[in-house]
Amino acid sequence: MLNVKHNEPVEFTEEMLGKFAEIVARYPEGRQKSALLPILHEVQAKQGWLSVPAMDKVAEYLQLEPIEVYEVASFYTMFFRQPRGKYVLEICRTGPCCLVGAERIMKHIESKLDVREGEVTPDGQFSWRGVECLAACGYGPVLQIGPEYTFYENLTEEKIDKLINELRNKAEGRALTAES
Ligand code: FES
Repeated sequence: MLNVKHNEPVEFTEEMLGKFAEIVARYPEGRQKSALLPILHEVQAKQGWLSVPAMDKVAEYLQLEPIEVYEVASFYTMFFRQPRGKYVLEICRTGPCCLVGAERIMKHIESKLDVREGEVTPDGQFSWRGVECLAACGYGPVLQIGPEYTFYENLTEEKIDKLINELRNKAEGRALTAES
């Protein structure tokens, strides 16, 4: 995954343009706006996140106003509008998880990765952020890691250490065996 830089000019490849055309063709004539969500997913998958130049380029492609693209990208939390790590640890920060230690877990992750919420580790592997209820309230504290959205429940500091170590090993080609 390529993490483009802020304000870096964006050019879509022939392959991406072909995919966009395929997506637009799924919708009735004149309804190209309906293709916005899947196209944003494509762009994010290729470029790591949605920079302003990338969103502007999507607006141009779909003949929309840039603000229409920004509104959608900022509404859905699965879209990242900042660079992110290969692994994004998303920790539930809603009340029930906070009651069982979510804030303590976030502090531990911050200290273990040595980056603040939303930042990326220097090796490009990790970032983390607090998110709203992940619908596993009875198993808190809880986190998920995309893009497969694997869940890790009943988190403790020890489980976090093990998970991060295993993800680092995975990045180096060894198998992931952390308990979920
Ligand atoms: S409050 Fe954390 S999963 Fe619902």
